[in-house]
Amino acid sequence: MAQFWKPGAEKPQLLDDEEGGVLFVFSSAFSSSSSGYGYASIEKQRQRLPVYKYRTAILYLVETHATTIIVGETGSGKTTQIPQYLKEAGWADGGLVIACTQPRRLAVQAVASRVAEEMGVKLGEEVGYTIRFEDVTDTDKTRIKFLTDGVLLREMMDDPLLTKYSVIMIDEAHERSISTDILLGLLKKIQKRRPELRLIIASATIEAKAMSAFFQTRRRRAVESVEPPLSMEPAILSVEGRGFNVQIHYVEEPVSDYVQAAISTVQLIHDKEPYGDILVFLTGQDDIDAAVKLINEEARNGGKNSSGLFALPLYSGLSRAEQELIFSPTPRGKRKVVVSTNIAETSLTLEGIVYVVDSGFSKQRFYNPITDIENLIVAPISKASARQRAGRAGRVRPGKCYRLYTEEYFLNEMSAEGIPEIQRSNLVSCVIQLKALGIDNILGFDWLASPSPEAMIRALEVLYSLGVLDDDAKLTSPVGFQVAEIPLDPMISKMILASNQLSCSEEVLTIAAVLSIQSIWFIERGIQKEMDEAKLRFAAAEGDHVTFLNVYKGFLRSGKSSKWCYKNYINYHSMKTVVEIREQLRRIAQRLGIVLKSCDRDMQAVRKAVTAGFFANACRIEPYSHNGMYKTVRTSQEVYIHPSSVLFRVNPKWVVYQSIVSTDRQYMRNVISIDPSSLTEVAPHFYRQQGPIF
Ligand code: CDP
Ligand code: MG
Repeated sequence: MAQFWKPGAEKPQLLDDEEGGVLFVFSSAFSSSSSGYGYASIEKQRQRLPVYKYRTAILYLVETHATTIIVGETGSGKTTQIPQYLKEAGWADGGLVIACTQPRRLAVQAVASRVAEEMGVKLGEEVGYTIRFEDVTDTDKTRIKFLTDGVLLREMMDDPLLTKYSVIMIDEAHERSISTDILLGLLKKIQKRRPELRLIIASATIEAKAMSAFFQTRRRRAVESVEPPLSMEPAILSVEGRGFNVQIHYVEEPVSDYVQAAISTVQLIHDKEPYGDILVFLTGQDDIDAAVKLINEEARNGGKNSSGLFALPLYSGLSRAEQELIFSPTPRGKRKVVVSTNIAETSLTLEGIVYVVDSGFSKQRFYNPITDIENLIVAPISKASARQRAGRAGRVRPGKCYRLYTEEYFLNEMSAEGIPEIQRSNLVSCVIQLKALGIDNILGFDWLASPSPEAMIRALEVLYSLGVLDDDAKLTSPVGFQVAEIPLDPMISKMILASNQLSCSEEVLTIAAVLSIQSIWFIERGIQKEMDEAKLRFAAAEGDHVTFLNVYKGFLRSGKSSKWCYKNYINYHSMKTVVEIREQLRRIAQRLGIVLKSCDRDMQAVRKAVTAGFFANACRIEPYSHNGMYKTVRTSQEVYIHPSSVLFRVNPKWVVYQSIVSTDRQYMRNVISIDPSSLTEVAPHFYRQQGPIF
């Protein structure tokens, strides 16, 4: 496909200093001298990073301000350096811990291992990390701890004032993940009780003013009993980046297939441009795997034009080995193409990128409280994201960014900023976490951006029906507290609790583990027939959940063999994760007093347990429907069974689903057939007001 490129008029502005608020500008007099730590070459690298010039300034501000907001371009060293500076300055003395949060699991692992390497220590000792279901820390030794914002939120359930931390750095705050937003509100409360706790809010873009206003309250007087006096006013520091100029190119006409357009653009760059790696932004595992495969095939079979080109995928859920490949330097004479989700937009920095190809899309969550459906959809990114993506090309030398959309579209149609996740998500998990932390008036909570009252009401309704909240909207005992304690979607947690009375907890724990990962199937385009045939070997008439049980049993019987997985088109890495998660869920279940019992072949019990968790997602097939159309019982939305489900084309009369993905239609993922009478049995309040539904 031919592409016509024209250079853009606007230079990407990576940092807009005018938004500074109480901006601290430090002269070079503040530059710190070498601290003489660690190994020489790594030390040199560290000193070359833009934040290094601000080392003393940062330490001074953290010492004298309860909250410090640090804005700096991606790659300037915020995440990897600041925790080390704090440690060197003694913030982790006396057994205290420095925490640094990230919205993404993969970023947590990557930065923790990088920092451990820079400090020359073993990961899991002085430097560790915790993500859900994986704790690589040592209670006595760990001084710098990277963790997801979600995990820190969970830690508050056991330790509401987060007393083991001296400094908490909320990183990637511009991403405005749900957990970041909730944390910021809670940390502001904690600071009132623990003024000595220092907060650092690090962000790649300039929402600094809004953040600063959020942390400013009228009666925040300085604490003068300490020396120097501690200011409760937030400080803002802007780290000047050293990004090189990035030339922007736009397509002249809109493209219809951005995967194909991205691939041709990669070829074009490889043909015409000097050496330097390429970063391509696509949206999800499917299109990324497809693009990687096509680029590599072309390089293998193709003529001289593709020689030296190799592509690697980057998305969450990659194994450690796959992650390492991405970060390892490109061999001489080769050109690396990393095809990524928006994880490479700001969370991770790859060295050597000179060219960026931006599809203009990312996968985003959207929740509609009217239909009560949460979708993951491919949606246009914002201007702010587009600028971040372009900036990734200017790390090592002047770069180029190819936008697969027109300049007209960028200027006139792209929205300036993204919408915070809290305003486009289902709030069931959020509400239960706040309730568990004793925040009763959720609408009155100090939100950075308020969620919609409709979404809140929907969440309360579901939690009430799940038996998690009582008439006063307080957590019920024990069910509410137990559901809150299990680190899973409340619907999955409720399913686990229900399995206790139904004597099928062994089976349901396996199902819960599978439902909490992306997919156990190996996905590859072009071999659909083989994959479908393989799936049939495990397919259960009841639906996907029981099919998962069959796969799990097969995997155990094979001795957890990777060959067996390969043969059956099952993702080995996913299955290993399932086994690990299941083991942890088993421990949590035991702690909650759930008796581990198997129902053997009685799949009625399993179906009932699933219904007890997911009754809100019940659907009924449209009578006389010839194309498998279902309607949701609650809101009469049109939905279809996803082609990847074993119930695709089987179309039982009644089903419940786990989630919806939306492409040309709204598709239900992870579907099981149910007995409709169990709906009124497990959730009488929820279905009573509907009148007769059967
Ligand atoms: O947080 P920020 O985006 O400001 O930068 P950072 O993540 O601290 O990265 C600073 C530098 O560390 C980058 O320029 C990379 O060169 C390097 N780095 C790396 O090589 N490997 C990693 N896994 C993480 C960072
Ligand atoms: Mg960072």
